[in-house]
Amino acid sequence: MKHLWDVPFLLLILLYLLAAVTSQVNPGVCRYPLGMSGGQIQDEDISASSQWSESTAARYGRLDFEEGDGAWCPEITVEPDSLKEFLQIDLRSLHFITLVGTQGRHAGGIGNEFSQMYKIKYSRDGSRWISWRNRQGKQVIEGNRNAYDIVLKDLEPPIIARYVRFMPVTDHSMNVCMRVELYGCEWLDGLVSYNAPAGEQMSLPAPPAYLNDSVYDGAVIHSMTEGLGQLTDGVCGLDDFTHSHVYNVWPGYDYVGWTNESLPSGFVEIMFEFDRIRNFTTMKVHCNNMYSRHVKAFRQVVCYFRSEADWEATPLSFSPVEDEKNPSARFITVNLANHMASAIKCQFFFADAWMLFSEITFQSDTAMYNTTLAPPKTALPPNIQPEDDPTHKVDDSNTRILIGCLVAIIFILVVIIVIILWRQVWQKMLEKASRRMLDDELTASLSIQSETFAYNHNQSSTISEQESNSTYERIFPLGPDYQEPSRIICKLPEFAQSSEEPASTSTAASKSTATTAVQDGAPHYAEADIVNLQGVTGSNTYAIPALTMDLLSGKDVAVEEFPRKLLTFKEKLGEGQFGEVHLCEAEGMQEFMNKEFLFDIPEDQPVLVAVKMLRSDASKNARNDFLKEIKIMSRLKDPNIIRLLAVCIYSDPLCMITEYMENGDLNQFLSRHEPEGQLALLSNAPTVSFNNLCYMAAQIASGMKYLSSLNFVHRDLATRNCLVGKNFTIKIADFGMSRNLYSGDYYRIQGRAVLPIRWMSWESILLGKFTTASDVWAFGVTLWEILNFCKEQPYSQLTDEQVIENTGEFFRDQKRQIYLPQPVLCPDSLYKIMLSCWRRNTKERPSFQEIHRALLELQP
Ligand SMILES: *[C@@H]1O[C@H](CO)[C@@H](O)[C@H](O)[C@H]1NC(C)=O
Ligand SMILES: *[C@@H]1O[C@H](CO)[C@@H](O)[C@H](O)[C@H]1NC(C)=O
Ligand SMILES: *[C@@H]1O[C@H](CO)[C@@H](O)[C@H](O)[C@H]1NC(C)=O
Ligand SMILES: *[C@@H]1O[C@H](CO)[C@@H](O)[C@H](O)[C@H]1NC(C)=O
Repeated sequence: MKHLWDVPFLLLILLYLLAAVTSQVNPGVCRYPLGMSGGQIQDEDISASSQWSESTAARYGRLDFEEGDGAWCPEITVEPDSLKEFLQIDLRSLHFITLVGTQGRHAGGIGNEFSQMYKIKYSRDGSRWISWRNRQGKQVIEGNRNAYDIVLKDLEPPIIARYVRFMPVTDHSMNVCMRVELYGCEWLDGLVSYNAPAGEQMSLPAPPAYLNDSVYDGAVIHSMTEGLGQLTDGVCGLDDFTHSHVYNVWPGYDYVGWTNESLPSGFVEIMFEFDRIRNFTTMKVHCNNMYSRHVKAFRQVVCYFRSEADWEATPLSFSPVEDEKNPSARFITVNLANHMASAIKCQFFFADAWMLFSEITFQSDTAMYNTTLAPPKTALPPNIQPEDDPTHKVDDSNTRILIGCLVAIIFILVVIIVIILWRQVWQKMLEKASRRMLDDELTASLSIQSETFAYNHNQSSTISEQESNSTYERIFPLGPDYQEPSRIICKLPEFAQSSEEPASTSTAASKSTATTAVQDGAPHYAEADIVNLQGVTGSNTYAIPALTMDLLSGKDVAVEEFPRKLLTFKEKLGEGQFGEVHLCEAEGMQEFMNKEFLFDIPEDQPVLVAVKMLRSDASKNARNDFLKEIKIMSRLKDPNIIRLLAVCIYSDPLCMITEYMENGDLNQFLSRHEPEGQLALLSNAPTVSFNNLCYMAAQIASGMKYLSSLNFVHRDLATRNCLVGKNFTIKIADFGMSRNLYSGDYYRIQGRAVLPIRWMSWESILLGKFTTASDVWAFGVTLWEILNFCKEQPYSQLTDEQVIENTGEFFRDQKRQIYLPQPVLCPDSLYKIMLSCWRRNTKERPSFQEIHRALLELQP
């Protein structure tokens, strides 16, 4: 039974792997926005070299924010080659930063300043500043090409820092403004620097392997001091050290290596310094073991600890099992036995002529990295992220991994026991064979698992694609340059109009593209005329560019005051933060209605109306917004848009009286009906013909065509927001968000608005961009609802989180996105229209005009 030692060894390894799951930073997952746009970074932690004015101070340099004058702008024009200006962020603790995002100053169309290039400097202690360079040594990062797009750049290598500076760079003298965001996660290792002998050069048959630390950010003379580099960049080397994940680099790139020839002491001493005194549990060293080239993992490691001034007298020593069978690179875990220290000095003893490390990580206290796949793995400037309780997620995935590993342990134990029993019976015959089996098993599981854990958590796919290229792509799923999706703003063909027309597709009410380009070079940071509507129900009703608003608000508001006492309450339709929507009967409304309404309504009968009411205790802002909404609504005149009939604004509560249609909303209406056919005949249910479905869809398209012609963005088009009158007439309204009935259609984001994510385009969800093109997307979903008779919620089989993940797939566009399926009733031609509404590229989506025309053609 001399081979039984394998069992505890195996267990040990498995337990180490268990710890490995959450104990080291994974650059593929560590891509969370660090709080410029989300607000977790406080104003006082954002500073700058200078500011143009109070309203362009550093604190306005937050990505995707429109406060102040819309961005941080330095005091003077930025000259080429002067690196005086910077925007600085203090993250308060060390962070591992994998991605940066920049944006210019748009300010509702008035701003046109951005930084075409920039450099990054960072610091861990606030005194020594280091210029970031990419793996090829280049410092300058390509920035923005316009004032509104967000440009994200992977940092290769990633940065470990507390302070980060963005320094605009120009090739000619120009005005520059910036908004920025950092993405990453906290640096739980706490490592501030490592000092080691400089890496060496190995002469191979042909080209030599350069085993220097090519991204070390400290000083390198004879040894490396005061820096971090490849040992902490989160990238583990391959089994064959002459190959690399990174393109276009020399052999040996991923490793730092030393030979015993130049270190007569027989060991390499590396000193690690930390941000504070920590309680260390383990150190993990990723070693190459390509023994055919005289490279082996270390034979022994001896570590000294320092917590106060002096080094502890008794070191800790550990000797891993030497492995001459398996040439794969692996993590070796050293138990640091809860030593308290702020510095550790380890001597790694050579087992062969060479020793090559690619990563060293430290686990201390109870800190654990997140293991859950990052929010949509793109980790876009996620305006919107599933902000679940993160600790809950971690627990959950830990449990799953724990169970998985326990099952694996049990399985392997069973296998071993079986093998041992076998051996007792077939001892002589099987001795050699069984020994080999055991080893193979062990090594196989080792190499697969360490690869997987080191690179990502997508365990199922790793094993088959271990070529260097694909691994690299998996770690950094984003290309170097993927700002393109947000190019849409201001660029849709239907809005590329002459300057006297209100030209805007803008996202929110706050953006309009007045063409006030600055020609003379003098900076203008005038405040944009921002219209930000707070609808009664807590949502923006319509998003309106400021300019359009001016055109609309002519001299007369063409609605009259209605005597409140003539309203009879019937039913509460909805409720929101600022008020309620009631269904009422109004007497004598005929007097208030325009002629064109009258043909429908018998004289002297009460009329059904919807009454939006503002709570009397609503804030002043809410009141102003309510009045603005009245102004806007009063101007909307289209047969397929709900009309404002009258108002009560002489006394509180303020009311807005709009049409209401006798058949209620389209969602409930269709749910009550069946398609024409056998089934309907049997069940005796009321039916709607296919032609009438098309007729209703065409009316919605027509109403939207009208809204889009005024550059109005609805933001919440869905069947629940369409009302049905006599003879299948449709009018578009908006009170969806307030109704309990449909609360399941909205996704509530912690501390933010509720959003109809199942109707929202990918760019609305990921980038917060609402445009006519995103209304077109929602129209596609609405059409899908109609053809399904609203019997099913869109993506009903997906959870909200999965819907958001699917959105990420739309963004990545690797053919993994799920489209809503073709409804049974839906002919191919109609489904084609839906699919065209869900095109990734907003410019390729049809306009409402085109959709309207196509739908009319469908009807006989
Ligand atoms: C864990 O994830 C949350 C977001 O879910 C993020 O804010 C946090 O920084 C992450 N922590 C680490 C250590 O990655
Ligand atoms: C590492 O070696 C390569 C290849 O000789 C060289 O180009 C690079 O500058 C070296 N890097 C450092 C930091 O010494
Ligand atoms: C270090 O952590 C371990 C486990 O969490 C704990 O048992 C031990 O008391 C800690 N040591 C010190 C000095 O706090
Ligand atoms: C280096 O290691 C090799 C292999 O173990 C050994 O043969 C050689 O003597 C060592 N050289 C020195 C200088 O220790």
